Amino acid sequence: MIKPDAVGRRLCGEIIRRYEAKGLKLVGMKLQIVSRELAEKHYAEHAGKKFYDGLMAFIMSGPSIQMVWEGENAVAVVRKLNGATNSQEADLGTIRGDYGLTVQNNLVHASDSGETAAREIAIYFAPGELWDYSMPDGHWLVN
Ligand SMILES: Nc1ncnc2c1ncn2[C@@H]1O[C@H](COP(=O)(O)OP(=O)(O)O)[C@@H](O)[C@H]1O
Ligand SMILES: [Mg+2]
Repeated sequence: MIKPDAVGRRLCGEIIRRYEAKGLKLVGMKLQIVSRELAEKHYAEHAGKKFYDGLMAFIMSGPSIQMVWEGENAVAVVRKLNGATNSQEADLGTIRGDYGLTVQNNLVHASDSGETAAREIAIYFAPGELWDYSMPDGHWLVN
């Protein structure tokens, strides 16, 4: 997910460019202001934590972009491209390391396992909104 801070800072193209350049394949995408219902499902694991209320307000504060990217080890690869949760600790060269300054407003979200990905994809996408296609110029990158 491209979070509202990144949309507001006009960083969507830069973020998508990095996933594409790595060789990942985009199979689903939408822009929306996430409803409280969806935000609660998304961040259920953090309910009750001290940063939860701020996180909920932040994630609903403006449009965000939900995406599904495919590729070999896509979960680990995307998390590596995103960088550490705390933008100040994230390595330079990662999205958070290059563009973030705080823990909460860290520009991007990524699923942390295949199971989580399946759960999170189901929150935001109907099966018919994900696309199965081959890429004419580069399908070799993702088999
Ligand atoms: N200590 C914190 N203070 C404020 N916001 C936080 C804190 N920890 C996490 N967050 C926010 O909650 C999101 C979810 O946290 P977490 O799942 O731990 O990180 P990640 O997004 O790297 O998987 C983070 O991306 C960040 O926006
Ligand atoms: Mg997480």
